[in-house]
This record gives sequence, C-alpha cells and structure tokens, in this order.
Amino acid sequence: MKYDVRQLPLLSNEEIAHGIFDMRLAYRQDDLPVACGQFAHVYVPSKTLRRPISVCDASDGELRLVYQVKGAGTQIMSQMQPGSMVDVLGPLGHGFQIEKGRRYCLIGGGIGVPPMLLTAKQCEDPLIITGFRSKSLVILQEDFKALGETLLCTDDGSAGQKGFVTDLLRERIGEIDEVCACGPTPMLKAVAAVCREYGKPCQVSLEERMGCGVGACLVCAVKVRKNGEEIMQHVCKNGPVFQAEEVVF
Ligand SMILES: Cc1cc2nc3c(=O)[nH]c(=O)nc-3n(C[C@H](O)[C@H](O)[C@H](O)COP(=O)(O)OP(=O)(O)OC[C@H]3O[C@@H](n4cnc5c(N)ncnc54)[C@H](O)[C@@H]3O)c2cc1C
Ligand code: FES
Repeated sequence: MKYDVRQLPLLSNEEIAHGIFDMRLAYRQDDLPVACGQFAHVYVPSKTLRRPISVCDASDGELRLVYQVKGAGTQIMSQMQPGSMVDVLGPLGHGFQIEKGRRYCLIGGGIGVPPMLLTAKQCEDPLIITGFRSKSLVILQEDFKALGETLLCTDDGSAGQKGFVTDLLRERIGEIDEVCACGPTPMLKAVAAVCREYGKPCQVSLEERMGCGVGACLVCAVKVRKNGEEIMQHVCKNGPVFQAEEVVF
C-alpha cells in the first residue's frame, strides 16, 4: 500500500458539534489515492506520537478529517489555524472492500461515523445507519442524505429514533447484502452478532491505541481467528478493517 509523509495546507478547522471538529486540508487525490476506511496519522506539535484519524472524505482537492477532542493531542489539533501546514503520514491501513452490484448497509456509531462518508461514496444506493449518544453529538447527516437513505438514532431519543443502531439494522437487514461498520467495540460486537444471526457478511473497522501506524512497534495488536487458529495481527497494517467473523472480540 502506497503512503507518504506530506505537509498539507490547513484550509479550515471548524467545530461542527460539541467538541467535534471538521478539518479540511488541501490535497490532490490523484497524487496519493485514499481508499475508504483508511486513516491518516497526524503529527501534533510537541507530541512524540502521531494521532490516527480516519479519512472522512477525499475529493474536490480536500482531505477531510472529522475528530473529537479527547485529550491533549486532539485539543492541540482543534487549535490549528487555517494557513498553517499539517504533517500527515498516510493514507494508512486496509479499508473497506466494496464490490459492485451489492447493497451495503453502512453503520457508524459516534466518532466512528466519519469514515462511513467516503465509504458511502463508493457504494451504489447504500443504506446508512448512524447512532449517537445524544443530539449535541450528531454530525454529517446532510452529507449522508445526499448519498443514500440515512437513518438516525440516539441513545436518549433527543434526535431520530430512540435506541441503538442494531435496532434499525434488524428492521432493514432483509434488504441488504453486506454490512460495514465503524464505532465503539461494544457496538461492533453487537452489529457482528446480528449479522451472524441473519447470515450477512460484515466488515468492522477496529480502533486500538497506536504508535508507529505502519506495523513496526506492535502497540496495536489484536487477536483474530484465521483457519481455525487464533493469531495476533496489527490494526494499523492488517486493518483497521477486518471481517467481523475473524475478530476475537
Ligand atoms: C484507525 C483509527 C481511526 C480513528 N479515527 C478517528 C476519527 O476519525 N475521529 C476521531 O475523533 N478519532 C479517531 N480515532 C481515535 C483517535 O485516534 C484518538 O481519539 C486520539 O488519538 C486521542 O488523542 P489525544 O491526544 O487527544 O488523547 P490522549 O488520550 O491524550 O492520547 C494519548 C495517546 O493515546 C492514543 N490514543 C488515545 N485514544 C486513542 C484511541 N481511541 N485510538 C487510538 N489511539 C488512541 C493517542 O494517539 C496518544 O498517542 C481513531 C483511532 C484509530 C486507531
Ligand atoms: S501502531 Fe505500531 S504496529 Fe501498529
């Protein structure tokens, strides 16, 4: 997989929901193509380790990263100003495998929602299900609605249907061929269980703490099952997207 370190001009960095920022960087997709589900490893001044952020979109000369302020690194990112340069290593990892002629259900939970936007752009007529804790954290609904039928749920019912993404998935699973999901591990585990119950293939994007991002430091190891054997693989290099049936949750 081809990747590079680039200094990308920061075009904008706006708060789009409580503590969630939409960073847009000038970027030429022809130079270094990005596949859906891949991530960028962002250098944060004064921090030794880069921060992994999924590519939300890569089109019209922009690389879009949507991130939530969690700790010191993402706090510094949120203060970066348009006109400055951002040091990005990427695109990294293996993303979602999208095949023509299949109907996908794309599921995003919380800050796992952004990578489903570029994924939706690769799909024909996707069904998109997004779930958030509450209304103040809801993002990207208009972007998704332009690409396919978009369903929204929140844990507390403050926006969309009250409940979980798995409730909506169960209602609509008969219409789709395959599921792609990104979000918190308990959500991925629940989505994988529903897909197993209905015999639908499912790809999940895993999140692990990372060091190098390129398979050299072993920080991001996860257990997967291949040919009946449990082995360790790297989320950064072998993933972040895995077949759900292979993941030992
Ligand atoms: C493949 C991948 C894609 C991701 N995509 C997104 C995204 O699109 N939007 C978004 O908001 N967040 C995303 N994350 C999570 C994001 O990387 C962390 O929230 C961020 O690194 C936290 O950094 P911090 O300095 O603010 O927090 P701190 O807790 O201060 O970070 C300390 C260290 O732990 C690491 N770390 C902390 N939490 C995580 C985490 N959940 N995953 C990986 N490393 C972590 C940091 O990189 C840093 O090295 C993704 C993580 C992975 C692995
Ligand atoms: S982050 Fe170093 S091996 Fe994955």
